[in-house]
Amino acid sequence: MPFSPRVFSGIQPSGDLHLGNYLGAIRRFVPLQQTHDCIYCVVDMHAITVWQEPEDLRRRTYEVAAAYIAAGLDPSRSIIFNQSQVLQHAELGWIFNCVARVGWMSRMTQFKDKAGKNTENVSLGLFAYPSLMAADILLYKATHVPVGEDQKQHLELTRDIAQKFNHDYRKRIRALGLDETFFPLTEPVIAGPATRVMSLRDGAKKMSKSDTSDMSIIYMTDDADTIAKKVRKATTDAEPLPSEVAGLAGRAEASNLVGIYAALSDSSKEQVLREFGGQGFGTFKPALAELAVAVLSPIAGEMRRLVGDPAELDRILRDGAERARALAATTMREVRDIVGFVG
Ligand code: TYM
Repeated sequence: MPFSPRVFSGIQPSGDLHLGNYLGAIRRFVPLQQTHDCIYCVVDMHAITVWQEPEDLRRRTYEVAAAYIAAGLDPSRSIIFNQSQVLQHAELGWIFNCVARVGWMSRMTQFKDKAGKNTENVSLGLFAYPSLMAADILLYKATHVPVGEDQKQHLELTRDIAQKFNHDYRKRIRALGLDETFFPLTEPVIAGPATRVMSLRDGAKKMSKSDTSDMSIIYMTDDADTIAKKVRKATTDAEPLPSEVAGLAGRAEASNLVGIYAALSDSSKEQVLREFGGQGFGTFKPALAELAVAVLSPIAGEMRRLVGDPAELDRILRDGAERARALAATTMREVRDIVGFVG
């Protein structure tokens, strides 16, 4: 039986949301609501794999939920909730810890980046993180996962876990009369001109919540003046923009800004260069700043309004968690039976 198309994605409430999160993920979540059943999660259990001040974690959980809604996610249509309210994530995460291999986890580049030289002293949760991520997705038998480029390896691992579970338990799955492909092989959805938004100061570095230089990051809640200043000061070369995408080769900073413009205007790099090819950054940067402000300011305003009403956000997250739990419970009833748990 083919799986019905279902989208799952998540964002960690571990730092202030930035343009990379918006263009690589949140903005792309919105149109999927027209074509798919969608589940969008604030993954608070992932966030605590590195230390979070409890008060900050709560505030940021509300902020991510507010960003989802302000950007256009509709809580009556999509399921919006925070992960820790649905205990089955932890339950399936544990089972996947017993399916995934240590060697698989050791190859995760994000773990290596985050742990650095400190591998002995990071949390065990940080190491096991991708197995919880696989649980997030497969708990709902999600078929499509929209994410930025940096999550690709984690999604490949999710497929490996699904495949190994389906294989290791194949006899039992068959005996129970369940579909042999019990967990789907989820497709990553990594598309568009801004799947990897780079730092505004260094075109070789990803824009990231953990960057220490504020000038390299546009936050979703930056005001108009701040956005304009950051774009104006963004590192570029001295050449005018090319008319063709091929002309962006070897020009990481220019390519990044063109990609950002394209994503903010729902167009492509080709289209942007058709308009701005031959022009210098003196013309392009103010146009980019104006566009970024026009897109982000209304969202930031709505985020502020929503965050000011935590009771309403609580209601939305509780309602989403309840709907998520119903789906998760169905999967877990089968999984518990497959694994051989009694009761
Ligand atoms: P996180 O919280 O680091 O990032 C959230 C989303 O933003 C994307 N992103 C970017 N996209 C383009 N350019 C950038 N510079 C940039 N920085 C971040 C990320 O790719 C992601 O889509 N492990 C995930 C959270 C997660 C998850 C899941 C995602 C947990 N469970 C299940 C999908 C499905 C993470 O740390 O994302």
